[in-house]
Amino acid sequence: MTISFQLRPANRNDAERLLVWRNDPQTRQASHHGEVISLEAHMAWLEKSLKSPDQRRLWVAEMNGKAVGTCRADRVENAWELSWTVAPESRGQGVAHQMLSQLMPLFNEPLSAQVKIGNIASVKVAERVGFVLDKQEQGVLFYVYPNKPFMAG
Ligand SMILES: CC(C)(COP(=O)(O)OP(=O)(O)OC[C@H]1O[C@@H](n2cnc3c(N)ncnc32)[C@H](O)[C@@H]1OP(=O)(O)O)[C@@H](O)C(=O)NCCC(=O)NCCS
Repeated sequence: MTISFQLRPANRNDAERLLVWRNDPQTRQASHHGEVISLEAHMAWLEKSLKSPDQRRLWVAEMNGKAVGTCRADRVENAWELSWTVAPESRGQGVAHQMLSQLMPLFNEPLSAQVKIGNIASVKVAERVGFVLDKQEQGVLFYVYPNKPFMAG
């Protein structure tokens, strides 16, 4: 069977699934802010995010029409910081790698990502798509992806 894989911009109809994925225990463990997020706080965050594409962009990945994961890009200085979450029931199938492989070519700017030490699957994914370890601080691995750095001048 042919598997279709598509990355599309997130919208308000994704609110519930994004909150479920965000409050999943493994996602919270991987996050810098591990607390459970309320529906109210999540809705405010999503609304603000969707209205600020110059600061934050969100995508949802669909495999054969089913939502299987999300990627986020946050503007940080002259770069975009990427983060990603795979739906709990869709983990272990290479979804994160597919999402990042589709997402990263959309950017011209430098990219970065932070992965907590011990998140072996995410380390593997980040390094496989070309992120390079820049530094390690307080249990966090800081990755960079220079992205066409030699085109200037
Ligand atoms: C981490 C996460 C994104 C991984 O996504 P995924 O697409 O399901 O990743 P996979 O399970 O396919 O694993 C990716 C790679 O890591 C490897 N891997 C996974 N768990 C591993 C482990 N415990 N030890 C060694 N290798 C492991 C897989 O074999 C695979 O390797 P490959 O690319 O060589 O085939 C997903 O589990 C998730 O969403 N977790 C919660 C949120 C999170 O951690 N987000 C990232 C924050 S930086």
